[in-house]
Amino acid sequence: MWIFGYGSIVWKPDFRFINRIEGHLKGVIRRFWQLSEDHRGVPGQPGRVVTLISTGNQADCVYGAAYEISNEDEASVRHVLDVREKDGYTIVETVFYPNNSAEQERACYTYMAQSNNPFWGGDAPLDQIAQQIARAHGPSGSNREYLFKLADAIRVIAPVPDEHLFTLDQLVKDIIAKDEQFNNKKL
Ligand code: SIN
Repeated sequence: MWIFGYGSIVWKPDFRFINRIEGHLKGVIRRFWQLSEDHRGVPGQPGRVVTLISTGNQADCVYGAAYEISNEDEASVRHVLDVREKDGYTIVETVFYPNNSAEQERACYTYMAQSNNPFWGGDAPLDQIAQQIARAHGPSGSNREYLFKLADAIRVIAPVPDEHLFTLDQLVKDIIAKDEQFNNKKL
């Protein structure tokens, strides 16, 4: 079984795998449109995490990493991920295209949050999303850590920039710098 990750699974798999390949899915875009009350936020102050949005345009790509799971680990890894992604994500089957053209495309599973789930945040102006990410914390850590680690990982994996992700990365860094300036003035 292959599992494709495009969010925290890229930089924090936390499950046993026998192989990891970087590459992409086609016909989707990555967006911070899913609310997180269980990992990167709390009820009343949810964070925002990524999901995949289908565009139907094969030129759209989402880069990430696919993990090969051995037959013996398949059930336990599915269980771990079903629990981890329980707040609104469902598992879907798709096709993964490795960065290394010598490797074959292959069927894989990925966890995707659809717009009818109870934690759907949807689209919003990027500066609002950035403010929300800059302020949110949850049981798995800060929302900004989720964003920064994902942006750093995707910079290494993807041959083309992910504009939504990298713009948010910069906007949140700007908010933090402004907050620091403000706090230093108060001292
Ligand atoms: C993923 O990483 O593939 C799913 C979304 C997340 O857990 O961040």
